[in-house]
Amino acid sequence: MKKILISIAFLIVAQSFMRADEGMWIPMLLKQQNEKDMRANGMRISADDIYSINNASLKDAIVLFGRGCTGEIVSDKGLMLTNHHCGYGNIQQHSSLEFNYLEKGFWAMSLDEELPNKGLTATILIRMEDVTKAVLEGITNQTSESERAKIVEKNIEKITKEAVKGTHYSAVIKPFYYGNQYFMYINEIFKDIRLVGAPPSNIGKFGGDTDNWMWPRHTGDFSVFRIYTGPDGKPAEFSKDNIPYKPKKHLTISTKGYKKDDFTFVFGYPGTTEQFLTSQAVALKTVYENPIAIQLREERLNIIKKHMDSDPLIRIQYAAKVASIANGWKKWIGENRGIKRLNTISEKQVLEAKFNAWANATPERKAEYGNLMADFKKVYDKATPYYVSYKYFSEAAYSIEAVRYALSLRSLIYLAEKKETTETAVKTHAQALIDAAKSHFKGYQQVIDKESFAVATRIYFENHDSQYQPQALKDIAKKYKNNFDRAAEDIFSKSLFTSEEKMLALLQNFKKKDVKKIKKDPIYTYAEETINHYREEIYSALMEVEEKIDHLYRLYSKGLMEMMPDKLFYPDANMTLRVTYGKVDDYYPYDGVRYHYFTTLDGIMEKENPDVYDYIVEPKLKELWKAKDYGSYADKDGSMHVVFIASNHTTGGNSGSPVLNADGHLIGINFDRNWEGTMSDVQYDPDQCRNISIDIRYCLFIIDKLAGAKHLIDEMTIVN
Ligand code: ARG
Ligand code: ASP
Repeated sequence: MKKILISIAFLIVAQSFMRADEGMWIPMLLKQQNEKDMRANGMRISADDIYSINNASLKDAIVLFGRGCTGEIVSDKGLMLTNHHCGYGNIQQHSSLEFNYLEKGFWAMSLDEELPNKGLTATILIRMEDVTKAVLEGITNQTSESERAKIVEKNIEKITKEAVKGTHYSAVIKPFYYGNQYFMYINEIFKDIRLVGAPPSNIGKFGGDTDNWMWPRHTGDFSVFRIYTGPDGKPAEFSKDNIPYKPKKHLTISTKGYKKDDFTFVFGYPGTTEQFLTSQAVALKTVYENPIAIQLREERLNIIKKHMDSDPLIRIQYAAKVASIANGWKKWIGENRGIKRLNTISEKQVLEAKFNAWANATPERKAEYGNLMADFKKVYDKATPYYVSYKYFSEAAYSIEAVRYALSLRSLIYLAEKKETTETAVKTHAQALIDAAKSHFKGYQQVIDKESFAVATRIYFENHDSQYQPQALKDIAKKYKNNFDRAAEDIFSKSLFTSEEKMLALLQNFKKKDVKKIKKDPIYTYAEETINHYREEIYSALMEVEEKIDHLYRLYSKGLMEMMPDKLFYPDANMTLRVTYGKVDDYYPYDGVRYHYFTTLDGIMEKENPDVYDYIVEPKLKELWKAKDYGSYADKDGSMHVVFIASNHTTGGNSGSPVLNADGHLIGINFDRNWEGTMSDVQYDPDQCRNISIDIRYCLFIIDKLAGAKHLIDEMTIVN
């Protein structure tokens, strides 16, 4: 074990400069690893200005928004910016046909108009720490993998408990390089987060799913929230007595703009990257998994869209669902293309051959890495059908709303089936499920779910190897003679889980014996048998395999670092705070085509199409454009810049992240990547990968001129 620690420590000091663009860097290590290079690329602030535990630094203004996005604090009253698509679910929650904030936008004109959001949190990092040694305490080269996992878990529990003793903070420890290294994060989690403003959808989601993942882009993808604390300044659940959060630091906004090649960096919470995947794993992803998900999602999207187009209520109900289904669908199409274009699989094969030769060149290496490539092959050969099966399960069965809903009632069944449970206890539990039922059906359309079920089960049955199919699926096929439309009709009309009326009737006066009704429900039986099949046949196999795979990657990433001692490595994204830096830059997507690095309001008018939902232009925006009423938010060139691109290495989770200039001032909010670059989670290509950000001046312009919420601008610190 000692050897691992030494080699990692060595890596951290081994300075070498790679291309500025690739990499998601650890804030605590910026000073050692990146500061010099960042400065060489134009940065005028220091690593300490970005991350420091002794003084207020930029990190104090960076927020993990909810569980999957980033936000940034822009005023001393806890005002926070993130993406429109990050706040989408919350905006939708407050929307109805009568108060359609999603469609029309929402702006609180004073603090008391700001809207609370149940369950939404804002997490701010207090400090981080390398805890590798403590986490690996008690592990030797002889420790087995399962034993290692247990020790690590125990150590982590102990370390985190100790770290936050006597504080209101929480601590998490995450593995880096598959467990070669561990960092602990001490966080403060705020629980009263209110919606302050959101532009109307035809700005915040302009271009919709049609433009999603694409450049050139014109989406005003931002929304505004505020963090509240208890009167003592500490995190607290929502209360009328709460006060706006007073942050240690808020970002300064620059309206100076940018030009090509200007240094920028992005500070946020990237979710997942997989740079170390082997060629076989990339093939699994691109040849098997992505196509399954792409096909199934495409079918479901067609169904949902058809209904959304014909009914405004369905449009609200399914807006967030369709956005999330479409987002993955389109990304994987782009990812597959990028990986094909880069020849990632054969490039990886070359690297693996090189590694293998290196690994077998000395007896020590041979002992440690000699079998690694063969072991990878063995494990992936075995695991592939299970991964495929998991994809089918999640995209064809678990994706059905009624199936998921039915499974959420299992707790009631367990309770009711216990001998000692009283009728009163069961009744109380059932009553408590009524609210959840109402909220589920508020966003539910049986017809959409039914059609999706028909298509999804047909594909699941026809395309997936029958050896790995759940029996319940085969039973349906048999019973309805492979006519899945008829199956869906029949099952959905008989089920309790597809009708609010039936469901409420059941829950309102629930008795122990009513369990029978649930258990013979056709959706419930399908759901129950399918999930049991998944747990027993797939999940358990994958758990076993993944432990092995993790171990192999731990060796592989360590070995690669030893093989290339001059290369500065970065750990894959894992939903921890990272800095990535690059420059404002254009690109050449295809032969003969060059993409400019920013777009303007003129482009919105160019895209305008009153007949296509995604391209309807907000009338007030058009007036402002006609009058060229851009105030101080116009660029030096006189136009209103809307969106720009740069070569910062970002991924899902970076949405809402601040894009900062050489002085550490906010110039944009990251919200997407270009389609040609979506393979960057597996392989980054500096020529093709761009992050897409809304120009902060466009946000200010919308807040000020369109929403008339100048009081928010006045809260901010702006340098011109
Ligand atoms: N592609 C962006 C990301 O992965 C934005 C997604 C939301 N927008 C949408 N039209 N679905 O999160
Ligand atoms: N749109 C993504 C997000 O929501 C960002 C990305 O994947 O580039 O985090």
